[in-house]
Amino acid sequence: MSFRAVDYRPGVLLLLDQTRLPTVETYLELRDVEAIAVAIEQLVVRGAPAIGVAAAYGIAVAAHRGLDLATADARLRRTRPTAVNLMWALDRMALAATLDPSPQALDQAAQRIFDEDAAACARIGELGAELIPDGATILTHCNAGALATSLHGTALAVVRAAHAQKKRIRVFADETRPVLQGARLTAWELHRDGIDVTVIPDGAVAHFLGLDMIDLAIVGADRIAKNGDVANKIGTRGVACLCRAHGRPFYVAAPWSTVDLTKKSGTEIPIEMRDPKEVTELKGVALCPPGVLALNPAFDVTPAAWVSDLITERGRTGQPVGLGLAKLSGA
Ligand code: MRU
Repeated sequence: MSFRAVDYRPGVLLLLDQTRLPTVETYLELRDVEAIAVAIEQLVVRGAPAIGVAAAYGIAVAAHRGLDLATADARLRRTRPTAVNLMWALDRMALAATLDPSPQALDQAAQRIFDEDAAACARIGELGAELIPDGATILTHCNAGALATSLHGTALAVVRAAHAQKKRIRVFADETRPVLQGARLTAWELHRDGIDVTVIPDGAVAHFLGLDMIDLAIVGADRIAKNGDVANKIGTRGVACLCRAHGRPFYVAAPWSTVDLTKKSGTEIPIEMRDPKEVTELKGVALCPPGVLALNPAFDVTPAAWVSDLITERGRTGQPVGLGLAKLSGA
């Protein structure tokens, strides 16, 4: 990969500042837990696996500074509620700290999380590429790319693998209002890799499905419940619904760290509500009349029945997704 969303040297977390993409490519060097927590809250680093990796390094940074690890854990855990990879990574770091709380041991524990995520994403790419026909136009929503993971991405790992296999593919990246992860981030990383990408407005998805110009959709996930319901970026449920209405497959790609078997269904997944200003303003310029209310849920839940297949590094679930998850959970 020609870039890393998350990088680390002992005691220092480096984050590619995703709030400034696509115009400015700059890394922040963070040396304390509060700065890392704020960076996660403000979407400097975002995407479920990348948030988990950043938080893991956050615990290592806390150890280097001699901070109380339980306090650091609690602060990082409060940053974003929906992506379970955050809690999963912090649980792993807490366990590692009980065995050896030294900075060196926690550096290694966080690095293992990074490496395992990168390997999982590479495997997801291989397994998912089998679902991509030569000549396909692929719709994706939000950014489930290398910017959202250690390396490769999840949905975009599948795209990258199909491209590497010389399949002729074209990606439609919907804009993903209000934060524009599709327009700003997915388009940035695919264009940089020389993969054919076209940005479309969120509202144009039904139009292009109706014209038979989209063959399939593939997205990432922030949390997957035991029954296969999928929480992902707001708008994902609409994309899945439209794919179903037009008879097109809707695929989800996610590492096992995104699966939360403690949640029976999607109704139990906490949905982050973000600042309404993300909806009512763009770079400080008003988009709505002053005083008008806005609601800004960051995620929605797609029912398992609308998911054609779920690709994890352990294998594909097929349908029904919940049954496939149960089989893979023993793998
Ligand atoms: O609010 P974000 O940008 O963190 O939301 C990200 C998404 O919804 C991604 O699709 C998801 O985390 C999967 S990333 C591999």
